[in-house]
Amino acid sequence: MCSVVGYSGPRLCRQMILEGLSRLEYRGYDSSGFACINATSKLASVKTQGGIQQLNLKIATQEMGVSISSSGENNLDGTLAIGHTRWSTHGVSTDTNAHPHFDCHKSIAVVHNGIIENFVLLKEKLQLAGHHFVSQTDTEVVAHLFEDEIKTKSLEKAVLSVVTKLQGAYALLIISEKYPDYLIAVRKSSPLCLGVADKEIFVASDVTAFTDKTDQVVFLPDESFVLISGTDYHVYNYFGERIYPPVQKNTCIWLSEGKSGYEHYMLKEIYEQKRVIIDTVNFLRGNTAAVMQQLNISPETVQDIQNIHFIGCGTSWHAGLIGEYFMQEIAQVATQSFLASEFRYKKFFSYPRTLTIIISQSGETADSLEALRLLSASKQPTVALANVASSSMVREADGFLLTQAGQEIAVASTKAFTSQIAALYIFAHWVAHSKGLITNKAIARAHEELFVAGEILENSIERYKFDIVARIAPYYAKYKNFIFLGRHISFPFALEAALKLKEIAYIFVDCYPAGELKHGPLALIDAQTPVVLFSCLDEVIYKKLYGNAQEVKARSGHLIVFAFEHQKDLIALADTVFIFPKVNPLLAPLVMTGLVQFFVYQIALLLERPIDRPRNLAKSVTVE
Ligand code: AGP
Repeated sequence: MCSVVGYSGPRLCRQMILEGLSRLEYRGYDSSGFACINATSKLASVKTQGGIQQLNLKIATQEMGVSISSSGENNLDGTLAIGHTRWSTHGVSTDTNAHPHFDCHKSIAVVHNGIIENFVLLKEKLQLAGHHFVSQTDTEVVAHLFEDEIKTKSLEKAVLSVVTKLQGAYALLIISEKYPDYLIAVRKSSPLCLGVADKEIFVASDVTAFTDKTDQVVFLPDESFVLISGTDYHVYNYFGERIYPPVQKNTCIWLSEGKSGYEHYMLKEIYEQKRVIIDTVNFLRGNTAAVMQQLNISPETVQDIQNIHFIGCGTSWHAGLIGEYFMQEIAQVATQSFLASEFRYKKFFSYPRTLTIIISQSGETADSLEALRLLSASKQPTVALANVASSSMVREADGFLLTQAGQEIAVASTKAFTSQIAALYIFAHWVAHSKGLITNKAIARAHEELFVAGEILENSIERYKFDIVARIAPYYAKYKNFIFLGRHISFPFALEAALKLKEIAYIFVDCYPAGELKHGPLALIDAQTPVVLFSCLDEVIYKKLYGNAQEVKARSGHLIVFAFEHQKDLIALADTVFIFPKVNPLLAPLVMTGLVQFFVYQIALLLERPIDRPRNLAKSVTVE
């Protein structure tokens, strides 16, 4: 959940490293740091609590002050450097815990993304051997281990010896005064890639850090390390053998468009959803042959499929739960969704004739990636449904399907969720078609339904916008707790809506399938805890939901309802109601998506939350 960026080449690179880091701040932003080998071959560094803005400020203050020695020893720029933004795992966010971390003599600097699981043991041993530690982090052990190893071993052997001692996940960048021309990059489980330009080499957690400098990328294989000197780079596996991972062309270039006048990325991304649905449909129907090739599943396999499993975390898991209904209703395939963090540690059964689809915006989420690896190891067919084309999941799954959300910057997922829903809806129709259940005409109708849903999604924000801003959000922003209810396909949607309120407004929400009310949560109903109920278009389910709404009102509950225009009885019960036109019942969640996100956004705005970067969270969760 941190990001690392490094550079080796002829240019002074501090500015480039800081620019690269600021593009990766979505991965973590509670502290940051930079270290380089400067013109006098000395290690110079700066680090601080806070993001790149605070780091720039600290650098400016240092450079204005007297701390820069006239000999140039402290000059904070060089042609070999590393940088970091942090999302704390071990040790709170302080200047000392910020990366880089150093050995006893401050001649080695290390930045790290991941977790060293056995650091306590290693630290104790190193302390007993006389090493002096200053931070509470797990990372610092790497600098001290390396300090010991390079005393007696070659650089390559020293790295090998360090990695045999480390347990956990890590992407490490290391520089040292002893080897002032070498940048060392090590990868186990956490992502790391090289950007290879004519006269320089970049290394980063994500290609976004250097997409404007080069499109030539080497994705470091798991359990490998690279010694970079100038433009020369040698990659090794953990047996010390030289390996030659291919240089690939990076086709996924998202250059930041900024907020385009919106106050937050989240609001911009909420408004991009209609476009994202159109792009998803157009991409999937316009490139069917290429997409089928990428999916890498033959029509025979599809016809033979008995089960579909979805695996994901957070919002992506919710998309899978909604996708279950698509697969079951449209393609008539038994489908189940799993939380990646649970799936990994449950007893593993290898299911025959089962396709597993790993859903992930980033394609890097540690739990989902490990679940994918578990499946691959037992030869279960996998497909990654991901938004980032260059991600580990896309590279490691048997096949992939790319969502067309474009870069999502706000930590809270909005348009990525919408694109997952649209892609799953179309995918379910493809499977149904391959099984001979539906005609081409039905697929074309599905495309039209998605266009209509996108239109309604956006129009409903416009319809209620002023009322939400002026009256509804200010009224509800004062409540401390909410209960969210859904049933059938609206239950996973209620989970997603609840996650948004927790994540960006820091409001507690308990979310239940409405049918469970009388099994316990009904005791919580009072006028102080608004109940948000998401309706369904299925007539049977609607009647049940109406019954649940009556249960709430009979206990003096306060009811906010997301309903459809013909559902007069439910509408009449509500204290606050948002009404939507009728659509295909399976697309009910999609049409409500934009409005609930907008409502939650406005509450978070009134509560003055840092909406794009909620506390304690990061966009891409690359640690367990
Ligand atoms: C959603 O708003 C979250 N930020 C989070 O739940 C996210 O969906 C989850 O971490 C999974 O990420 P992924 O889709 O990149 O795998």
